[in-house]
Amino acid sequence: MPWIYPRVLAHRGGGKLAPENTIAALRCGLAYGFRAVEFDVMLSKDGVGVIMHDPEFGRTVAGQGSVARTAASDLVRKDAGSWFGAEFTGEPVPLFTEFVDYCRSQRIWMNIEIKPAPGFDDETGRWVAQKTRARFIEEVRAGDLAAVPLLSSFSMAALAAARDAAPDVPRACLFDTVPADWREQAQALQAVAIHTNHKHLTPELARDIRQAGYGLFCYTVNDPERARTILDWGVDGFCTDRIDLIGPGFAD
Ligand code: G3P
Ligand code: MG
Repeated sequence: MPWIYPRVLAHRGGGKLAPENTIAALRCGLAYGFRAVEFDVMLSKDGVGVIMHDPEFGRTVAGQGSVARTAASDLVRKDAGSWFGAEFTGEPVPLFTEFVDYCRSQRIWMNIEIKPAPGFDDETGRWVAQKTRARFIEEVRAGDLAAVPLLSSFSMAALAAARDAAPDVPRACLFDTVPADWREQAQALQAVAIHTNHKHLTPELARDIRQAGYGLFCYTVNDPERARTILDWGVDGFCTDRIDLIGPGFAD
């Protein structure tokens, strides 16, 4: 597919300049001019999408426990900001719905990474796809796909569930290392793009993916020189933690 999306995205909302996957991160990204983000969605115990990367507490949220064993009403009371800096104390774990609505209100385009807690691949893929479709129903019906989020996941089971629940919301296969059977997997999932770790990409593979008609997106590119190199290989877009070094117009 021709790449119809922004080419530089703020990873987890605001890269390394704000607590990841929070509204504060989105505000930070906006302050640097970013209107395109990647973020991670996981389901709570009661099956509600929240914006979290780790299945377990301890790193961005204090204490012990896990997202899949905690109700959404308790998750949103957790402090996802103070680990990063005292000025972010009290920054909550966002609900998927409020996070997406904030992005919509600010015209921020979204790459939504479906991040199932272990064992919850199908439910998470289905939930995210259905909710995304419902929130972008007008754009989906109008075929305005540049305005619709792109779903991605390392979990092919989650992507299959997303495909079945909302076939008209675009999907991307997300791989650390692109496997030999990437064509078969992408075809089965009716994916529009391959997302991969730039560290394992080669110019030959980049060429093959693009020649096969897929978009090609890399994570997480923090060195401007490396960003230039992969863009030269034909990479369509990437996300970065260094929104201070690599701006939204870097690839223009
Ligand atoms: O979606 C790209 C990237 O975010 C994948 O890795 O661990 O940062 O979610 P991770
Ligand atoms: Mg991610």
